[in-house]
Amino acid sequence: MKYFIANWKANKNEKEADSWAQSFLGLIEKDDVLQKSIEKTEIEIVVCPPFPFISTVKSLLKESSVKIGAQDISYFGGGAYTGEVSARMLTGVIDYVLVGHSERRQYFHEKDYTIDQKVANAKEAGIEPILCVRGNHDVIPGGVGIVAYEPVEAIGSGANQPVEKTLEMRSGLHIGRDTAFLYGGSVTEDNALEYVGQDKIDGLLVGGASLDPGRFYKIINSAL
Ligand code: PGA
Repeated sequence: MKYFIANWKANKNEKEADSWAQSFLGLIEKDDVLQKSIEKTEIEIVVCPPFPFISTVKSLLKESSVKIGAQDISYFGGGAYTGEVSARMLTGVIDYVLVGHSERRQYFHEKDYTIDQKVANAKEAGIEPILCVRGNHDVIPGGVGIVAYEPVEAIGSGANQPVEKTLEMRSGLHIGRDTAFLYGGSVTEDNALEYVGQDKIDGLLVGGASLDPGRFYKIINSAL
């Protein structure tokens, strides 16, 4: 199974989110090869819009097999925490959640213990956490089934990490074959195949290039 995860970050307004979902649906609906790969669970497409647009995107894509994810969840279980969105609130709304993205670690000072708790909260709520790590100094809590390796210098820089280095990092993380290993950092339609063509790379986490439905679609197509 290869995962293709779109991380929109803090981009788009409602109209743009709506139009992305409609265009993307138009592209994937008429692609029989892609539909078959999804049916055969060879690929899994996950879109992570910002919270306000999750329900818009979800309802526009409801007839498709595209899954919805969130970009973060609260460390808290719920209650008097103004502005927070707890895992429990997202049960039944999303299937996946990004946890520990390097931008959360950098700008919101998330630490390993916070990330650990978020992973536990997601799992308890029946949501699959996608743990983002910057390298092998980041702790991978037990029970994590999907790890996305994103070297900080490769994110949004246009300088994607060479695939050999990525595979070296995979070995350095000491994860078993039952843990999906994803790469993220300046993935484009031109370099996606280098990664997903590797047996030991189970998918891609795509930021900038996922903002355009046509580019994200091309990235997915590189695996077919
Ligand atoms: P990028 O972002 O594809 O724009 O480099 C990846 C990410 O941070 O998830």
